[in-house]
Order: sequence, then structure tokens, then C-alpha cells
Amino acid sequence: MKVAVFGTGYVGLTLAACLAEVGHAVCCVDVDARRVASLSEGHCPIFEPGLPVLLKNGRASARLAFTTDAARAIDAATVIFIAVGTPSLPDGSADLSQVFAVTDSIARHARGDKIVVNKSTSPVGTVDAIKARLARHDASTATRVDVVSNPEFLKEGSAVLDCMRPDRILIGGASPATQALLRELFAPFSRNHDKFICMDARSAELAKYAANCMLATRISFMNEMANLAEHTGADIEAVRRAIGSDPRIGYDFIYAGCGFGGSCFPKDLSALQRIAEQYDYQPRLLQAVDAINQRQKHRLFEKILDHYDGDLAGKTFAVWGLAFKPNTDDMREASSQVLLRSLWQAGANVQAFDPQAHAEARRLFGERDDLRLMDRKEDTLSGAHALVIVTEWQDFRVLDNGLVRQRLLDATVFDGRNLYEPAQMAEAGLVYYSIGRPDAGARQAPR
Ligand SMILES: NC(=O)c1ccc[n+]([C@@H]2O[C@H](COP(=O)([O-])OP(=O)(O)OC[C@H]3O[C@@H](n4cnc5c(N)ncnc54)[C@H](O)[C@@H]3O)[C@@H](O)[C@H]2O)c1
Repeated sequence: MKVAVFGTGYVGLTLAACLAEVGHAVCCVDVDARRVASLSEGHCPIFEPGLPVLLKNGRASARLAFTTDAARAIDAATVIFIAVGTPSLPDGSADLSQVFAVTDSIARHARGDKIVVNKSTSPVGTVDAIKARLARHDASTATRVDVVSNPEFLKEGSAVLDCMRPDRILIGGASPATQALLRELFAPFSRNHDKFICMDARSAELAKYAANCMLATRISFMNEMANLAEHTGADIEAVRRAIGSDPRIGYDFIYAGCGFGGSCFPKDLSALQRIAEQYDYQPRLLQAVDAINQRQKHRLFEKILDHYDGDLAGKTFAVWGLAFKPNTDDMREASSQVLLRSLWQAGANVQAFDPQAHAEARRLFGERDDLRLMDRKEDTLSGAHALVIVTEWQDFRVLDNGLVRQRLLDATVFDGRNLYEPAQMAEAGLVYYSIGRPDAGARQAPR
């Protein structure tokens, strides 16, 4: 089938590469000419396991093309995916300008029958808004455009796998004919059982926000429990094991830490609050989830500040992990951003290591004297007073305690992801702070 995909970010590029891999002819459109040129030359612009191979295959088979020419891609396609960004506006609502720019392009260039599939996470009513916008332009009686919602549930870091073997393929607002065509398109991803869940467009649109906000709620709930554990002298890791063993709760998304970030949870949480408010509904749970997370992103800095009695001027911190989670180079809304900016504001220096996010960090922060990005995690320790863990990359899970104690000036570790055992850290002569657990080897902060 001939497909156009608008947007070559994490979602669009992954989808396009996977569709090409299974035999469809895919033309990707992006407004970023440099990105298109680089993709056309065979470079993968993001870190996503498995994606470079698929891009290479797509190039070799000539089933995957990249262009800035929207008209050409729309003309050739039967199915047109919208996979552009829906970032937050200053008031927290979703900015639909990219989605509507693609819509207007489709309205200008579409001839004949087309199916428009909105994959971008968009507020309830967006499919209706796209239809209304298309109808305004539609002068040609020979053009029939059907519009459906198809929210994306892939996770950065395992996007290719999630796209090839999705838990579900959610389709909202499709006519029986459109449904049949999309079943054919996605059949290679739905082989071992029927993954299709079909419903009206508004329910599909709300379901995407509901999924992300449910997961965000679990994390904020655990962070609330972690803070309570710190006050009451309990250990959040013991609490996690105890409640995770209940099959009604399970172990996923119940880790306490230094807050969630990324391109989706924070922005979708804000957008759903604004959607609720538009309908005069006070989303009290969502507000609390958001507020807890924003506060939690400051916990590591508060612990550091407490330990150093409020004086961080001239101190140097080794920071491990800049990406918002492991296996990605994405730093959007990452907790590391909050930490680094707070450290800098307090006059401290940072020596950081992340397995993938250095280019992104340079893009975000530019060249500055108080940030050194090191090639090896061990290098960050020399000359640093303390180590701070922000992202739970696999590579950080086993700590060389001896080396850390020997290199750090203050032999102190602040762990925002609870990777290590407090007793072992104390035994190794390290002062160890984590989230929601008794501090080890540390002087007790006054409660
Ligand atoms: N990243 C994720 O893990 C994830 C998961 C599920 C859903 N989503 C949703 O999918 C959507 C896309 O997310 P992403 O992370 O891939 O975004 P992204 O920011 O990585 O990429 C968006 C791309 O769209 C391009 N673009 C902007 N306007 C365009 C236009 N008019 N025509 C063509 N291209 C245009 C941009 O240049 C950019 O390359 C968002 O709504 C997001 O919420 C993302």
C-alpha cells in the first residue's frame, strides 16, 4: 500500500520504517529540510534501538523515501499519517498548529480517495476539527477524505519493537471500509491475535490521554508514598515489593524516583487538565499528579542542598544520566534539566555522563564553563565532590563502590532512582541518599 507519513520524529520515523520493512511503500514528509537531507543520506537522527537497520533496509529496497514536498507525497498516497508534534502551549494546552498545517496541506493537494490517520496525541474533538478544516477547503467533488484517530502507544527506547508488536491498534471513528483498509495495512503487526480495538474518534482520543495519565498517576502516587516513607522512617522499596505482589496492582510503573519527564507524560497531563477545564470540570486528581511530579523533580537538589548546608558555590557534581529515561537520547522535560539548572544557579559545576544524550545536552545548554560532558562515566568522578544518579541506565546498575569512594572528594552519592542497596553503600564507606529510603552513612537531617 502507498503511504505518506508527516513528521519524522520518534513516532513518524519509526512507523514509516516499520511499514516499509513489511512491504509498504512509504514517503516521509518533514518541514525540517536538514533532517530530510540527512535521512536521505542514510543517517538516523535519533537514538532508537533497531531503527538504523530498518532505515538501511528501507533505503536498499527503495520502499522508504524522504521529502519536504508535501504535494508529491499526498498525491501518491492512499493512507496519510499525521505524526507531527503536539507540544504544550504556554497555558499547558496542546498546540495543534503542526497538525493543522498538515491538514491544510492535505486539503490543498489531495485528489481522489484518501484516508487521513491522526497519530499525533491530540485533544478530544481533533478528528472533528480536521474534518471541518478539510471541508472548508474541499472544492473538488472528486476528492473524498476520511479522517480517523489512531493514537500511538510506542515507548521511546523500544519504539521499533512496540510498533512491530503492539499491544493494541486503536482506531477511532473509522467507517467499515476504512477499518478494512487499515486492517490490511497493519496486518503484519497483528499476526498472532487481533490487535484492533475500534471505537468512536472522541473515545480513542481520550483513551490516549487516559493511558498516559494513568501511568503518570502511578508514578506520582509512589513518589507521594516515598515522601511519606521518608517522614515516617519506612522504606519505599519494601513498600513497592509488598504492594507490587498484589496482582491487582502489579510491579509496573510503581518505582519512586526523582520525577517523570519525557515528551509525553508531562505534556499530556497538562493538556488533559486544560481539556477538562474547557468543559468546566476540575480535574483534581490530574492536578495533584502534576503538582507531585513537579515537586519531585526538585527532591534530589533539596537533598544535595541539605547535605551541604545550603552552600554549593564552587562545588562540583558528577551527574550520571541526562536523558529522561534509559535507552533514549530524549531530554524533553527530563529531571536532569531541573537538577542541572538548580545546581548552576547555586554556583555549582557539573561533570556529566549519559550514554546517548550528549548531543542533545549541547543543543539545550550550549557551551558553558560549568558543564563538562565526559566520555566515560568514571571520568566524571575525578575532582567531583559527590555523584548524582538521575537516569537508571543499565550501565549504572552495578557501582564500583571502591572507585567511587576513592575518586569523589566527599564520598557521597545522591541516587534519584534507588539503584543501590543503602547497607552496601554504607559498608563501602559511602554516604548515600536515595528516594523514600533511610539515608545510609549520612548524618540525619532534622525532620
Ligand atoms: N515520542 C513518543 O514516545 C510518543 C509516543 C506516543 C505518541 N507520541 C505523540 O506523537 C506525536 C509526535 O511525537 P514525536 O515524539 O515523534 O515528535 P517529534 O517532535 O520527535 O517529531 C515531530 C516531527 O514533525 C515535524 N513537523 C512539524 N511540522 C510538520 C509539518 N507541517 N509537516 C511535516 N512535518 C512536520 C518536525 O520537524 C519533527 O521532525 C506527538 O503528538 C506525541 O505526543 C509520541
